[in-house]
Amino acid sequence: MEKTIRKLSNGVEIPVVGFGTYKLQNENNEACNIIKEAINSGYRSIDTASFYNNEEGVGKGIRESNVSRDELFVTTKVWIDDDGYENTIKSFNKSLEKLGLDYIDLYLVHWPTENIKETWRAIEYLYKEKKVRSIGVCNCTVKQLEEIIGFSEINPMVNQVEMHPNRTEKELLKVCKRHNIVVQAWSPIMRGQLLSNSIIRNLAQKYNKSEAQIILRWHLQNNVIAIPKTSKPNRIKENIDIFDFEIEIQDMERIDSINTDERIKLQKYENLYKIV
Ligand SMILES: NC(=O)c1ccc[n+]([C@@H]2O[C@H](COP(=O)([O-])OP(=O)(O)OC[C@H]3O[C@@H](n4cnc5c(N)ncnc54)[C@H](OP(=O)(O)O)[C@@H]3O)[C@@H](O)[C@H]2O)c1
Repeated sequence: MEKTIRKLSNGVEIPVVGFGTYKLQNENNEACNIIKEAINSGYRSIDTASFYNNEEGVGKGIRESNVSRDELFVTTKVWIDDDGYENTIKSFNKSLEKLGLDYIDLYLVHWPTENIKETWRAIEYLYKEKKVRSIGVCNCTVKQLEEIIGFSEINPMVNQVEMHPNRTEKELLKVCKRHNIVVQAWSPIMRGQLLSNSIIRNLAQKYNKSEAQIILRWHLQNNVIAIPKTSKPNRIKENIDIFDFEIEIQDMERIDSINTDERIKLQKYENLYKIV
């Protein structure tokens, strides 16, 4: 049977597919109900962030689910406004309180800023204090990652980046592999923008799977952990139902050929791309 978990560099186990929560709201119990639905459908890894403003609802869903805490893998992140040593620790404590949990499985720096050294020192402190089981970064280029590895006492275990067939990041994948850093793909289906691509459509027909499943399976076979987000119960199930088929090597290459290095539009947060 195919593996549904893998190990980070410190031996901590992480599910090979996660559930994204960006845009889910605390209001009307939306985040809470969707998290419960996702857990019921088999997801064991949930990705949130202080920036998403939904840690209360996400935490409520986790606590109300019928799966025990130690079987779940919870990720949250420190936002750019809270960078630096003291602020990162404060932000972490706030996240923990909002989630209503007593530890986090993976704590990530949401975007590197010029204060990354101090932010990372706080992250290392939280790890040593056993408040978090694993630590990592998001949105780091090869250069930024190597800079962090240069000054860190404990290397990042994860780099969560925008990745999909339109942004395959082959060089970054190689560097992460070399440093034993697990790559997670955010916007793994490019927020739906790739579902009408003709290569993806043809493969969906060939394998009798949906377009989203083809892309998510491509991530899995690339050893990348996708964290798709959806608020629709049928799609929650669809996006994790990717373990009963295998994409042939030449079709993996066809998907790779879609790449143009194009990014999704971050709308008002466009300037994040220019932070460091
Ligand atoms: N670290 C970072 O900087 C960063 C940045 C962005 C995101 N993230 C994380 O990564 C997660 C995923 O990224 P994302 O939310 O940007 O994009 P995504 O998962 O690629 O796409 C989500 C969008 O696709 C739709 N969708 C989902 N499954 C579908 C399916 N099977 N068929 C058709 N449409 C489908 C969803 O609509 P419905 O909800 O209507 O189904 C939603 O609009 C986020 O939720 C967040 O947890 C991290």
